[in-house]
Amino acid sequence: MKKRNFIKAFLLGSAALMVPRRSSALEYYPRPSGKKWAVLYSTWCGSARDAGVWISEGMDGIANVFDVREKPDLSGYDHIIVGGAIRSGRVSQEMQDFLTKNQAVIKPRLRGYFAVCGNMMQPVTPEVTSRLIDRHLAAICGVTGIPSGVFLGRITWGLMEPDVREQMQKMPGMKEYDNLKRDECMAFGREVLEKNK
Ligand SMILES: Cc1cc2nc3c(=O)[nH]c(=O)nc-3n(C[C@H](O)[C@H](O)[C@H](O)COP(=O)(O)O)c2cc1C
Repeated sequence: MKKRNFIKAFLLGSAALMVPRRSSALEYYPRPSGKKWAVLYSTWCGSARDAGVWISEGMDGIANVFDVREKPDLSGYDHIIVGGAIRSGRVSQEMQDFLTKNQAVIKPRLRGYFAVCGNMMQPVTPEVTSRLIDRHLAAICGVTGIPSGVFLGRITWGLMEPDVREQMQKMPGMKEYDNLKRDECMAFGREVLEKNK
């Protein structure tokens, strides 16, 4: 390669690397749909991501599934489901900030809420739903009277931040567990879809 061409190719290659690329790792539509659905989730260790994907599966895979850290533009969607993993009684700060900042886009399109929590490995009660959905997610989003699902999640030591793992392992009776149920997430997805046909 001539020296001039080499320099040109090098500069073009470097410029391409500088163009920021939007991540869309989970963006997919397995099945075509006349309506545009999005599931937006926040997670630390992945259970809420799986819940989001399974909710979409319950809708025959017509929803795009986004991690809130992608900061997706949801204005092109007709229907949105939002939810996330719970730590200290809250979804992540990124999710809370995103919901607040994008309320004008999300509010008119919001069709369902979900939360994924440990709940001390106990079954979900109406009080848990009221605390995590009505008094938390719905209070941030300003929409009530839509379907919601609270799912028991997972603890996986190897996926946790080391300092968090250390603290958690000091808690009496705390152990690894997997209580997330694909069929429950899918049933919720179906329920939301049915309500918006
Ligand atoms: C540091 C920490 C704090 C948690 N706080 C709560 C809580 O307040 N209430 C609850 O029900 N579950 C709590 N959990 C359990 C998580 O909600 C559960 O493990 C969930 O599956 C995590 O979702 P993720 O894998 O998507 O991050 C906590 C877990 C961790 C690691």
